[in-house]
Amino acid sequence: MAEEQKLFTVTIDNITIEVAAGTTILMAARKVGGDVAPPAMCFYSKLQGSGGKCRTCLVEVAAGSTADPRPMPKLVASCRTTVMDGMVVKNITSEKVKDARNGVVEFLLLNHPLDCPICDQAGECSLQDLSYEHGKAGTRYEFQRRLFQREDIGPYIQLHMTRCILCYRCTYIADQLTDTRMHGILDRGEHAQISTYISKAIDNDFSGNMIDVCPVGALTDRTFRFKQRVWFLKPLNAHRNCDKCCGKVTLWNRGDEVFRVTTRKDEWGEVESLEDGKPAWICNECRFHKKHTSDWVIEEPRKINRHSVISAGHYVNAVKPPEFIETVNGGRKPRHLMDIHEVSEVNKPNVHLNELPRSPKTDSYEK
Ligand code: SF4
Ligand code: FES
Repeated sequence: MAEEQKLFTVTIDNITIEVAAGTTILMAARKVGGDVAPPAMCFYSKLQGSGGKCRTCLVEVAAGSTADPRPMPKLVASCRTTVMDGMVVKNITSEKVKDARNGVVEFLLLNHPLDCPICDQAGECSLQDLSYEHGKAGTRYEFQRRLFQREDIGPYIQLHMTRCILCYRCTYIADQLTDTRMHGILDRGEHAQISTYISKAIDNDFSGNMIDVCPVGALTDRTFRFKQRVWFLKPLNAHRNCDKCCGKVTLWNRGDEVFRVTTRKDEWGEVESLEDGKPAWICNECRFHKKHTSDWVIEEPRKINRHSVISAGHYVNAVKPPEFIETVNGGRKPRHLMDIHEVSEVNKPNVHLNELPRSPKTDSYEK
């Protein structure tokens, strides 16, 4: 007869639950849910060995266990500490934790650029959310920040090393999901960086999942970059028969135009599990090459947390919302349509706006 699973009682922020022996404090707190669950920037439940790098999940252990109720002397990383029977944990009820988390966020932002307005991850970035809650308006850092050139690591992914928080998730994906890992964290300390070895490209069927696990905008989808802000898109659950992966995805549409394809993510921002308990990773074919609605069987709109900026797009299903520029512009059409990336000289003070080349159509508009 199978041995009955041993259950431990743990109290987190005054809520008592029972969890299986061996559960970490973080996973126990996720069982309670809501704000009681500490934020996690490097832990990812579907990646073995992840966690223990970023320290955003620190909690206070006010009582170690029923057998030894002494408090733990220091805050502990909840993603790496397992519960004991009778443990008492404080997360949002601890001033020490709040103070430490503010400090951790300050450290994570030391070198991180404030480029959310142009970052593709804006609106779904864990660091952006964390800084709204714990960040400071100013910085105390007086030294030069680390600067890197953007790097194309393979045909589909671009790396912005300046945004990377060295959480290691993308290296775990490459190790655990693909046959060959072409990239890793090179150097140490202040010089540590993600890179490929002698500019080798990352090119294998499941490499795109690195983009989904990156908690910030350091790894971006080259087929989606700068095309749309996520809050203008409508996420839809869809599937197709795929011989490489489960084929279950989220389409990010504006009307019936598919802008990007991602894995389906749960409330913790992690890939959902399939019926058999395996994570629903998707292949590059589904992610980068199936960008027509006709490639997919659409199931339903995805439920989005109402506090997320993504829920700002109130139109339903794959119905394109009306374009409103003309309406708010008193019936006038936009006179200049320019690709700001092609004409970025606009930022130079000696270049006059009216000397920039316009789109050919512009000349026919009434002046
Ligand atoms: S690139 Fe993204 S996933 Fe990889 S270590 Fe940096 S932050 Fe983490
Ligand atoms: S999530 Fe626990 S240390 Fe990063």
